[in-house]
Amino acid sequence: METVVSGIRPTGNLHLGNYFGAVKNFLKMQDEYKCFFFIADWHSLTTHPRPENIQLSVRKILAEYLACGLDPEKATIYVQSDVKEVLELYLFLNMNAYLGELERTTTFKEKARKQPDNVNAGLLTYPTLMAADILIHRAHKVPVGKDQEQNMEMARKFARRFNTIYECDLFPEPASFSYSGEGIKIPGLDGSGKMGKSEGNAIYLIDEPSVIRKKVMKAVTDSGPTVPNSEKPEVIRNLFTLLEVVSSREVYDFFNEKYNNCEIRYGDLKKQLAEDIVSFTTPIRERIQEFASDTAYLDKVVAMGAEKSRESARATIQEVRHLIGFR
Ligand code: TRP
Repeated sequence: METVVSGIRPTGNLHLGNYFGAVKNFLKMQDEYKCFFFIADWHSLTTHPRPENIQLSVRKILAEYLACGLDPEKATIYVQSDVKEVLELYLFLNMNAYLGELERTTTFKEKARKQPDNVNAGLLTYPTLMAADILIHRAHKVPVGKDQEQNMEMARKFARRFNTIYECDLFPEPASFSYSGEGIKIPGLDGSGKMGKSEGNAIYLIDEPSVIRKKVMKAVTDSGPTVPNSEKPEVIRNLFTLLEVVSSREVYDFFNEKYNNCEIRYGDLKKQLAEDIVSFTTPIRERIQEFASDTAYLDKVVAMGAEKSRESARATIQEVRHLIGFR
Protein backbone atom coordinates (compact mmCIF):
# COMPACT_ATOMS: atom_id res chain seq x y z
CA MET A 1 0.00 0.00 0.00
CA GLU A 2 1.28 3.46 -0.84
CA THR A 3 2.28 5.80 1.95
CA VAL A 4 0.95 9.32 2.43
CA VAL A 5 2.48 12.00 4.65
CA SER A 6 1.08 15.41 5.40
CA GLY A 7 1.94 18.17 7.82
CA ILE A 8 -0.52 20.48 9.48
CA ARG A 9 0.47 24.02 10.36
CA PRO A 10 -0.31 24.54 14.03
CA THR A 11 -1.89 27.93 13.55
CA GLY A 12 -5.49 28.98 13.53
CA ASN A 13 -8.73 27.06 13.76
CA LEU A 14 -10.34 25.10 10.98
CA HIS A 15 -12.85 26.96 8.83
CA LEU A 16 -15.35 25.69 6.27
CA GLY A 17 -12.81 26.17 3.48
CA ASN A 18 -10.35 23.88 5.28
CA TYR A 19 -13.10 21.39 5.97
CA PHE A 20 -14.20 21.01 2.34
CA GLY A 21 -10.57 21.10 1.17
CA ALA A 22 -7.74 19.56 3.15
CA VAL A 23 -9.81 17.80 5.79
CA LYS A 24 -12.13 16.01 3.36
CA ASN A 25 -9.06 14.86 1.49
CA PHE A 26 -7.46 13.49 4.63
CA LEU A 27 -10.64 11.59 5.41
CA LYS A 28 -10.64 9.99 2.01
CA MET A 29 -6.97 9.17 2.15
CA GLN A 30 -7.04 7.51 5.54
CA ASP A 31 -9.27 4.84 4.00
CA GLU A 32 -7.12 4.30 0.95
CA TYR A 33 -3.51 4.70 2.01
CA LYS A 34 -1.09 4.17 4.84
CA CYS A 35 -1.30 7.69 6.23
CA PHE A 36 0.92 9.75 8.50
CA PHE A 37 -0.58 13.07 9.54
CA PHE A 38 1.39 15.26 11.88
CA ILE A 39 1.28 18.67 13.48
CA ALA A 40 4.34 20.62 12.34
CA ASP A 41 5.30 22.28 15.59
CA TRP A 42 9.02 22.60 14.82
CA HIS A 43 8.28 24.36 11.56
CA SER A 44 6.37 27.08 13.33
CA LEU A 45 9.56 28.14 15.14
CA THR A 46 10.89 29.56 11.87
CA THR A 47 8.42 32.40 12.23
CA HIS A 48 7.41 32.25 15.91
CA PRO A 49 10.50 31.75 18.09
CA ARG A 50 8.52 32.02 21.31
CA PRO A 51 5.28 30.16 20.80
CA GLU A 52 2.80 30.83 23.53
CA ASN A 53 1.68 27.38 24.56
CA ILE A 54 2.70 24.66 22.15
CA GLN A 55 1.15 21.88 24.17
CA LEU A 56 -2.21 23.59 24.24
CA SER A 57 -2.33 24.63 20.59
CA VAL A 58 -1.28 21.16 19.47
CA ARG A 59 -4.12 19.62 21.44
CA LYS A 60 -6.62 22.16 20.14
CA ILE A 61 -5.74 21.30 16.57
CA LEU A 62 -5.84 17.63 17.31
CA ALA A 63 -9.33 17.95 18.81
CA GLU A 64 -10.54 19.72 15.66
CA TYR A 65 -9.19 17.12 13.27
CA LEU A 66 -10.49 14.24 15.38
CA ALA A 67 -13.90 15.91 15.52
CA CYS A 68 -13.92 16.07 11.74
CA GLY A 69 -13.35 12.34 11.54
CA LEU A 70 -9.61 11.80 11.38
CA ASP A 71 -9.23 8.38 12.92
CA PRO A 72 -6.14 7.40 14.93
CA GLU A 73 -6.93 3.74 14.29
CA LYS A 74 -6.74 4.27 10.53
CA ALA A 75 -4.05 6.93 10.22
CA THR A 76 -0.96 7.61 12.29
CA ILE A 77 -1.60 11.01 13.82
CA TYR A 78 1.37 12.47 15.63
CA VAL A 79 3.25 15.54 16.73
CA GLN A 80 6.38 16.32 14.71
CA SER A 81 8.52 17.08 17.75
CA ASP A 82 7.83 13.60 19.15
CA VAL A 83 9.83 12.03 16.35
CA LYS A 84 13.47 12.95 16.90
CA GLU A 85 14.54 10.68 14.02
CA VAL A 86 13.32 13.48 11.75
CA LEU A 87 16.10 15.69 13.11
CA GLU A 88 18.81 13.24 12.19
CA LEU A 89 17.47 12.96 8.65
CA TYR A 90 17.19 16.76 8.53
CA LEU A 91 20.89 16.98 9.37
CA PHE A 92 21.90 14.43 6.75
CA LEU A 93 19.77 16.09 4.08
CA ASN A 94 21.17 19.50 4.96
CA MET A 95 24.69 18.22 4.24
CA ASN A 96 23.62 17.82 0.63
CA ALA A 97 21.38 20.85 0.35
CA TYR A 98 23.02 23.85 -1.31
CA LEU A 99 22.81 27.41 -0.13
CA GLY A 100 21.94 28.69 -3.60
CA GLU A 101 18.93 26.47 -4.11
CA LEU A 102 17.61 27.15 -0.62
CA GLU A 103 17.98 30.89 -1.06
CA ARG A 104 16.15 30.79 -4.37
CA THR A 105 12.89 29.35 -3.02
CA THR A 106 10.07 31.86 -3.17
CA THR A 107 8.75 31.00 0.29
CA PHE A 108 12.15 31.82 1.78
CA LYS A 109 12.41 35.09 -0.10
CA GLU A 110 8.89 36.02 0.90
CA LYS A 111 9.37 35.24 4.58
CA ALA A 112 12.75 36.98 4.59
CA ARG A 113 11.01 40.07 3.27
CA LYS A 114 8.27 39.78 5.87
CA GLN A 115 10.60 39.35 8.84
CA PRO A 116 13.87 41.09 7.88
CA ASP A 117 15.06 41.01 11.48
CA ASN A 118 14.77 37.27 11.75
CA VAL A 119 16.12 35.67 8.59
CA ASN A 120 17.21 32.56 10.47
CA ALA A 121 18.80 29.35 9.23
CA GLY A 122 15.63 27.43 10.09
CA LEU A 123 13.74 29.58 7.64
CA LEU A 124 16.38 28.90 5.01
CA THR A 125 16.26 25.14 5.62
CA TYR A 126 12.47 24.94 5.94
CA PRO A 127 12.35 22.85 2.74
CA THR A 128 14.93 20.41 4.15
CA LEU A 129 12.90 19.88 7.32
CA MET A 130 9.78 19.39 5.23
CA ALA A 131 11.64 16.89 3.04
CA ALA A 132 12.77 15.06 6.19
CA ASP A 133 9.15 14.89 7.38
CA ILE A 134 8.17 13.26 4.11
CA LEU A 135 11.20 11.06 3.44
CA ILE A 136 11.37 9.70 6.98
CA HIS A 137 8.33 7.56 6.10
CA ARG A 138 9.43 7.08 2.47
CA ALA A 139 6.14 8.61 1.36
CA HIS A 140 4.78 8.22 -2.14
CA LYS A 141 2.16 10.93 -1.94
CA VAL A 142 1.83 14.23 -0.14
CA PRO A 143 -1.47 16.10 -0.08
CA VAL A 144 -0.58 19.78 -0.20
CA GLY A 145 -1.99 23.00 -1.50
CA LYS A 146 -0.53 24.72 -4.55
CA ASP A 147 1.52 27.05 -2.36
CA GLN A 148 3.68 24.09 -1.32
CA GLU A 149 4.66 23.04 -4.85
CA GLN A 150 8.17 24.46 -4.66
CA ASN A 151 8.82 22.80 -1.31
CA MET A 152 7.65 19.54 -2.87
CA GLU A 153 10.05 19.96 -5.76
CA MET A 154 12.85 20.38 -3.24
CA ALA A 155 11.76 17.22 -1.43
CA ARG A 156 11.89 15.29 -4.69
CA LYS A 157 15.27 16.76 -5.51
CA PHE A 158 16.68 15.83 -2.09
CA ALA A 159 15.29 12.30 -2.43
CA ARG A 160 16.88 11.84 -5.86
CA ARG A 161 20.13 13.37 -4.69
CA PHE A 162 20.37 11.06 -1.70
CA ASN A 163 19.67 8.03 -3.86
CA THR A 164 22.34 9.14 -6.34
CA ILE A 165 25.06 10.02 -3.85
CA TYR A 166 24.64 6.87 -1.79
CA GLU A 167 23.86 4.68 -4.78
CA CYS A 168 20.57 3.34 -3.54
CA ASP A 169 16.88 3.61 -4.16
CA LEU A 170 15.84 4.17 -0.59
CA PHE A 171 13.55 7.13 -1.19
CA PRO A 172 10.64 7.16 -3.61
CA GLU A 173 10.10 10.56 -5.19
CA PRO A 174 7.12 11.93 -3.31
CA ALA A 175 4.34 13.11 -5.61
CA SER A 176 2.25 16.15 -4.76
CA PHE A 177 -1.32 15.26 -4.33
CA SER A 178 -2.78 18.64 -4.94
CA TYR A 179 -6.37 19.04 -3.89
CA SER A 180 -6.61 22.69 -4.85
CA GLY A 181 -8.38 21.87 -8.09
CA GLU A 182 -10.53 19.19 -6.57
CA GLY A 183 -13.96 19.45 -5.04
CA ILE A 184 -15.57 22.75 -4.37
CA LYS A 185 -13.58 25.86 -3.64
CA ILE A 186 -15.27 27.49 -0.68
CA PRO A 187 -15.59 31.25 -1.11
CA GLY A 188 -15.37 33.83 1.62
CA LEU A 189 -18.27 36.01 2.69
CA ASP A 190 -16.80 39.26 1.46
CA GLY A 191 -17.03 38.47 -2.22
CA SER A 192 -13.26 38.24 -2.45
CA GLY A 193 -13.07 34.63 -3.58
CA LYS A 194 -11.46 32.11 -1.33
CA MET A 195 -12.28 31.60 2.33
CA GLY A 196 -9.16 32.09 4.38
CA LYS A 197 -7.95 32.92 7.82
CA SER A 198 -5.84 35.84 6.66
CA GLU A 199 -8.67 37.22 4.54
CA GLY A 200 -10.81 37.59 7.67
CA ASN A 201 -13.85 36.25 5.82
CA ALA A 202 -14.01 32.78 7.31
CA ILE A 203 -16.62 30.80 9.19
CA TYR A 204 -14.88 28.58 11.71
CA LEU A 205 -16.07 25.16 12.77
CA ILE A 206 -15.96 26.37 16.37
CA ASP A 207 -18.02 29.51 15.72
CA GLU A 208 -21.11 29.73 17.90
CA PRO A 209 -24.46 29.91 16.05
CA SER A 210 -24.86 33.60 16.92
CA VAL A 211 -21.44 34.35 15.41
CA ILE A 212 -22.27 32.38 12.26
CA ARG A 213 -25.57 34.21 11.84
CA LYS A 214 -23.89 37.56 12.23
CA LYS A 215 -21.18 36.73 9.72
CA VAL A 216 -23.60 35.41 7.13
CA MET A 217 -26.00 38.33 7.45
CA LYS A 218 -23.08 40.69 6.79
CA ALA A 219 -22.13 38.90 3.56
CA VAL A 220 -21.84 41.16 0.54
CA THR A 221 -24.67 41.07 -2.03
CA ASP A 222 -25.86 43.29 -4.86
CA SER A 223 -29.18 44.93 -5.71
CA GLY A 224 -30.51 41.80 -7.38
CA PRO A 225 -31.07 40.78 -11.00
CA THR A 226 -33.45 42.70 -13.25
CA VAL A 227 -33.31 40.36 -16.23
CA PRO A 228 -34.56 36.77 -15.82
CA ASN A 229 -31.96 34.01 -15.92
CA SER A 230 -29.03 36.39 -15.80
CA GLU A 231 -25.61 35.17 -14.89
CA LYS A 232 -24.78 35.56 -11.20
CA PRO A 233 -22.03 37.98 -10.26
CA GLU A 234 -19.26 36.54 -8.08
CA VAL A 235 -20.61 37.76 -4.72
CA ILE A 236 -23.91 36.01 -5.41
CA ARG A 237 -22.30 32.92 -6.85
CA ASN A 238 -20.37 32.64 -3.60
CA LEU A 239 -23.55 32.44 -1.55
CA PHE A 240 -24.94 29.79 -3.86
CA THR A 241 -21.73 27.79 -3.58
CA LEU A 242 -22.14 27.77 0.19
CA LEU A 243 -25.77 26.67 -0.19
CA GLU A 244 -24.54 23.91 -2.43
CA VAL A 245 -22.34 22.38 0.28
CA VAL A 246 -24.48 22.85 3.40
CA SER A 247 -28.10 23.01 2.24
CA SER A 248 -30.48 20.52 0.68
CA ARG A 249 -31.07 20.31 -3.03
CA GLU A 250 -34.59 21.71 -2.50
CA VAL A 251 -33.32 24.80 -0.74
CA TYR A 252 -30.73 25.41 -3.41
CA ASP A 253 -33.25 25.00 -6.22
CA PHE A 254 -35.75 27.20 -4.45
CA PHE A 255 -33.40 30.18 -4.23
CA ASN A 256 -31.96 29.52 -7.64
CA GLU A 257 -35.43 29.72 -9.15
CA LYS A 258 -36.18 32.88 -7.23
CA TYR A 259 -32.99 34.36 -8.59
CA ASN A 260 -33.84 33.37 -12.13
CA ASN A 261 -37.29 34.93 -11.78
CA CYS A 262 -35.80 38.11 -10.32
CA GLU A 263 -37.72 37.51 -7.12
CA ILE A 264 -34.77 36.76 -4.92
CA ARG A 265 -34.67 38.24 -1.43
CA TYR A 266 -31.14 38.03 -0.22
CA GLY A 267 -32.20 38.47 3.39
CA ASP A 268 -34.20 35.23 3.18
CA LEU A 269 -31.40 33.44 1.44
CA LYS A 270 -28.89 34.48 4.06
CA LYS A 271 -31.15 33.49 6.92
CA GLN A 272 -31.59 30.03 5.44
CA LEU A 273 -27.88 29.75 4.66
CA ALA A 274 -26.96 30.73 8.21
CA GLU A 275 -29.28 28.08 9.66
CA ASP A 276 -27.97 25.42 7.34
CA ILE A 277 -24.37 26.26 8.23
CA VAL A 278 -25.30 26.13 11.92
CA SER A 279 -26.91 22.68 11.45
CA PHE A 280 -23.84 21.52 9.62
CA THR A 281 -21.24 22.76 12.09
CA THR A 282 -23.09 22.18 15.36
CA PRO A 283 -22.35 18.45 15.71
CA ILE A 284 -18.72 19.10 14.74
CA ARG A 285 -18.44 21.98 17.21
CA GLU A 286 -19.85 19.78 19.96
CA ARG A 287 -17.40 17.00 19.16
CA ILE A 288 -14.51 19.49 19.19
CA GLN A 289 -15.53 20.56 22.68
CA GLU A 290 -15.80 16.96 23.83
CA PHE A 291 -12.38 16.00 22.49
CA ALA A 292 -10.75 19.20 23.73
CA SER A 293 -11.88 18.54 27.28
CA ASP A 294 -10.85 14.89 27.23
CA THR A 295 -7.14 15.41 27.81
CA ALA A 296 -6.59 11.79 28.78
CA TYR A 297 -7.86 10.67 25.39
CA LEU A 298 -5.82 13.29 23.53
CA ASP A 299 -2.71 12.19 25.43
CA LYS A 300 -3.42 8.64 24.41
CA VAL A 301 -3.78 9.60 20.74
CA VAL A 302 -0.51 11.55 20.88
CA ALA A 303 1.33 8.68 22.57
CA MET A 304 0.00 6.11 20.14
CA GLY A 305 0.92 8.34 17.18
CA ALA A 306 4.42 8.88 18.52
CA GLU A 307 5.00 5.17 18.86
CA LYS A 308 3.70 4.26 15.42
CA SER A 309 5.50 7.06 13.60
CA ARG A 310 8.79 6.40 15.41
CA GLU A 311 8.68 2.78 14.43
CA SER A 312 8.45 3.81 10.79
CA ALA A 313 11.04 6.56 11.25
CA ARG A 314 13.54 4.28 13.00
CA ALA A 315 13.49 1.81 10.15
CA THR A 316 14.34 4.55 7.66
CA ILE A 317 17.02 6.21 9.75
CA GLN A 318 18.80 2.90 10.33
CA GLU A 319 19.06 2.38 6.59
CA VAL A 320 20.19 5.96 6.10
CA ARG A 321 22.98 5.60 8.65
CA HIS A 322 24.06 2.37 7.10
CA LEU A 323 24.12 3.81 3.59
CA ILE A 324 26.14 6.85 4.64
CA GLY A 325 28.57 4.65 6.52
CA PHE A 326 27.64 5.00 10.18
CA ARG A 327 27.39 1.57 11.72
N1 TRP B 1 4.82 23.44 4.78
C1 TRP B 1 3.50 22.91 5.01
C2 TRP B 1 2.50 24.08 5.06
O1 TRP B 1 2.89 25.20 5.29
C3 TRP B 1 3.43 22.13 6.31
C4 TRP B 1 4.32 20.96 6.27
C5 TRP B 1 5.44 20.77 6.99
C6 TRP B 1 4.15 19.80 5.47
N2 TRP B 1 6.01 19.56 6.70
C7 TRP B 1 5.23 18.94 5.79
C8 TRP B 1 3.18 19.41 4.54
C9 TRP B 1 5.35 17.69 5.17
C10 TRP B 1 3.32 18.18 3.92
C11 TRP B 1 4.41 17.33 4.24
O2 TRP B 1 1.33 23.86 4.87
